Amino acid sequence: MAKIRLGDTAPNFTANSSIGTIDLYDYLGDSWGILFSHPADFTPVCTTELGTAAKFKDEFDKRNVKMLALSVDGVDSHKEWIKDINEVQNTTVNFPIIADEDKKVSDLYDMIHPNADSTLTVRSVFIIAPDKTVKLTLTYPASTGRNFYELLRVIDSLQLTANHKVATPANWKNGEDVVVSPAIATEDAKNMFSKGVKEIKPYLRMTPDPTV
Ligand code: BEZ
Repeated sequence: MAKIRLGDTAPNFTANSSIGTIDLYDYLGDSWGILFSHPADFTPVCTTELGTAAKFKDEFDKRNVKMLALSVDGVDSHKEWIKDINEVQNTTVNFPIIADEDKKVSDLYDMIHPNADSTLTVRSVFIIAPDKTVKLTLTYPASTGRNFYELLRVIDSLQLTANHKVATPANWKNGEDVVVSPAIATEDAKNMFSKGVKEIKPYLRMTPDPTV
């Protein structure tokens, strides 16, 4: 069990899932990926999260992000639980859920935090870039469901900043002004960003989102 940090290569694994055996790297291919863990099947907050995730799949697809959930229960349990999720959340779970009964993946990704609970996975999130580097890690307690709008927002920021020398400010949303990367001199930034650069402070320069 190693702590996975930003910039690390996401460890590959093979695991059972609700749709059969999955090899992480084969499943992701050249796409981005989001791997998110749940404490257990048939639990209330997880049920709302997985239903919400299913409703957000189109948005993840638009961003070329493959979704992969995990809990430590078995495949048969997952399949029964998916029926409940579809019923009560009025949706169709349309991505695999890893059945991590032997906790192989949970250990590999450090998803069990013994001082919180020695057996259940916490609500971990890993966003993985196409080159398999980990771009985001998040850890939520079992008692707090995740905000899937925030996950999409982070992916938008990651994909924008991967291709442009910018960073995104607090509460930024797609299409809003962005921060010029601190590594770029203001004069260079003015040549680089055709929509203009506003210097608020020498270290704080804003420019319109270069992709809109
Ligand atoms: C839930 O998903 O509702 C949950 C799971 C474990 C502990 C607390 C809540």
